[in-house]
Amino acid sequence: MKYHIVTYGCQMNLHESEKIAGILREKGYTEETDIDNADIIVFNTCCIRENAENHAFGNIGALKRHKREKKDLIIAVGGCMAQEKGKAELIREKFPFVDILFGTHNLNELGALIDKKRAQKKRVFSLKEEREETEDGITPVRTGYPGAWVNIMYGCNNFCSYCIVPYVRGRERSRRPEEIVNEVRSLAEAGYREITLLGQNVNSYYGDDGTAFPELLDKCASVEGNFRLRFMTSHPKDFSEELVKVIKKHKKICSCIHLPVQSGSNRILSLMNRRYTREKYLEEIALLRKEIPDCAVTTDIIVGFPTETEEDFQETLSLVKEAGFASAFMFIYSPRTGTRAAVMEGQIAEEISKDRLSRLIDAVNEQTRNISAGYVGKTAEILCEGYDEKKKMYLGRDEYGRMGYFADDRDRIGEFVTLRIEHANGISLYGSVVEE
Ligand code: SAH
Ligand code: SF4
Ligand code: F3S
Repeated sequence: MKYHIVTYGCQMNLHESEKIAGILREKGYTEETDIDNADIIVFNTCCIRENAENHAFGNIGALKRHKREKKDLIIAVGGCMAQEKGKAELIREKFPFVDILFGTHNLNELGALIDKKRAQKKRVFSLKEEREETEDGITPVRTGYPGAWVNIMYGCNNFCSYCIVPYVRGRERSRRPEEIVNEVRSLAEAGYREITLLGQNVNSYYGDDGTAFPELLDKCASVEGNFRLRFMTSHPKDFSEELVKVIKKHKKICSCIHLPVQSGSNRILSLMNRRYTREKYLEEIALLRKEIPDCAVTTDIIVGFPTETEEDFQETLSLVKEAGFASAFMFIYSPRTGTRAAVMEGQIAEEISKDRLSRLIDAVNEQTRNISAGYVGKTAEILCEGYDEKKKMYLGRDEYGRMGYFADDRDRIGEFVTLRIEHANGISLYGSVVEE
């Protein structure tokens, strides 16, 4: 019996697919890379923007043929879109060949749902409204060596006015600090070289014993072993001086922070319910740069939020420069049913948003290119993550998140390799190995 998992969305979802794989393996399934040969297909979906949803629907629709050809194939749909209000009914109606539906709060029950489906002819659709527990007892099948993800918290309480995550992931729940530190320790002992702590807003982590995020990060970075530590995502409203101190204190913690700004306009930030101003955001960056001058800052930006004017957008462009972002994820605002922004007046026409997005991408890319160009002639230490078959080169990232490529006859995956950078192309660096 073989499983095939299709994952959409963020790192949280990628890690959850590792947990789904853990459940399936426990049930006796083995992984199958070819979807045509699978006995169970699981879609782990995302609903952050409309196109993420459309993509998932399109691909689920395409499974009809598989079901026709293989009668006992099980098709399961889970994740954020499955949890979204009204979507279970829609899937039930539009996709009669979907056998199992589960949400974000009952992923741990997938094994039982499969048993139930096998025992009866009927479809098994099961959703839970909330989840209290922070431990799921699942051993994930890790797929990211030399990297590994560790959840530190689930859910989100921020209700940014555009965002659906609080509705599909529930309220914030933090895992116990010792569970997290133990997981980090066992990953380090197992030879993982890059551990990423995951949460929608890691800065609001709050352990049952009062441990706050900087303290947790300090504990994780104090675990012995040859590994790097990353964390995401940080919300600017909860960013603190203590956090900067901890990043500075530990060599293990990458000098790199993902700090989504969303907009450079105070008026838009307020409508977004982000609870910080442009000035506060820039002060945080200034503090980071003062304490950790080499720190790379990456971000997320939305264009075309309701009522955004050209002046608002110009403020975003100027903030990109002032903040000196190393790179950014940039999106066109997508209205999500049930969120406050979806019913705001002043929705922006798509052509305007598209034009802003393309100007924003140009501005960010220019900065990214300049930073990359600054590497030429210097060295960079990268953690080798994989091999690019097309380029016939190994690839990896430095602590700032820059991608470095190099050729080597030996297998270098999982090793820290020093490169002399010979040329740069966009966000990618190309170099040769500096032998120690
Ligand atoms: N919790 C994280 C990110 C969650 S979603 C944070 O607060 O930063 C990742 C990114 O998707 C967000 O930072 C935002 O830029 C984008 N995003 C979320 N909802 C969106 C929407 N409705 N339309 C467009 N982009 C959106
Ligand atoms: Fe969404 Fe805001 Fe929560 Fe991030 S902090 S997940 S953008 S509501
Ligand atoms: Fe992630 Fe998408 Fe859900 S971004 S939290 S998988 S809505």
